[in-house]
Amino acid sequence: MPFIKVTDLAYGRLQSPSLDEAEEFLTAFGLVRAERTRDALYMRGTDSPHHLHVTHLGPSKFMGLGFFAADEDDLLKLSRAPGASGIEHVDEPGGGKRVTLTDPLGYRIEVVCGMQTLPPLPAPEQSTNTGGNKLRRAGELLRVERRPSRVKRIAHVVLMARNAAEKVRWYRELLGFLPSDEVYEGSKDNIIASFNRCDRGELFVDHHTFLCFESRTTGLNHFSFEVQSFDDLMVGHEHLHQAGKYRHVWGVGRHLLGSQIFDYWEDPWRRVHEHWTDSDMLNARATAGLHPVEMGFRPRWGTPPPDDFVHHAIP
Ligand SMILES: [Fe+2]
Repeated sequence: MPFIKVTDLAYGRLQSPSLDEAEEFLTAFGLVRAERTRDALYMRGTDSPHHLHVTHLGPSKFMGLGFFAADEDDLLKLSRAPGASGIEHVDEPGGGKRVTLTDPLGYRIEVVCGMQTLPPLPAPEQSTNTGGNKLRRAGELLRVERRPSRVKRIAHVVLMARNAAEKVRWYRELLGFLPSDEVYEGSKDNIIASFNRCDRGELFVDHHTFLCFESRTTGLNHFSFEVQSFDDLMVGHEHLHQAGKYRHVWGVGRHLLGSQIFDYWEDPWRRVHEHWTDSDMLNARATAGLHPVEMGFRPRWGTPPPDDFVHHAIP
């Protein structure tokens, strides 16, 4: 049995040499400023958590991750895990309580509860006149405006590590992650990538929240954020492209494992941020898949991942 079962990814923490440039990129990417202090920037999505992305001022660095605990009882249980802190009051915007740990890669993991919530931001649903029902928008005219994507929430993180399978075990034993799909190279016990979801029992959750890839280098491969719809992803793509200063990494395509429609962009310090929409949803009953590397990463449609992205790791 794991110590606890986290309910979702809460935020990623980066360090960046300029908060102005960080905010400019993240705004173009579709996040909204929740708060900015002298040395830190807190960005939110349209969902209600106070923030989902934290940037501290300093040399470019991936600092760690926050996950949501179900309640304070779980924080108490987790505080008894090896290497865990006691329950701390969070002394930064958004508040709440947390337990901190260091993962086997050396990154800071914070498990939080009671973070402040804010009123959701407007994100009108858009219906389509397609397939068997061409009257979902009967009589209404579609108006797609040109603007950044509207990021709803942070959805997953991908880390690169040596002995990835062993590192993943720590996340499963402490935080309750379940394998959704794994990818092997050569023999079936040589797992080189592991897609893990939160265990919320009967509740259906994203196909993956935490992924770890086998790699010679350790670090962040990317953060991933859910946007509102396919149109929303495409207007965001065009917006970032037209900014003329951000490097596009991969997409648009549809993943094989997880099935999301995806689009990847780099921030000014090469930290990759993904937009996606339309994920497979699984509950705790689903059994894990096992796939050979030859088929594991080819998208259902779209081009294969660029070589430099497959090995990309920001320490
Ligand atoms: Fe991703």
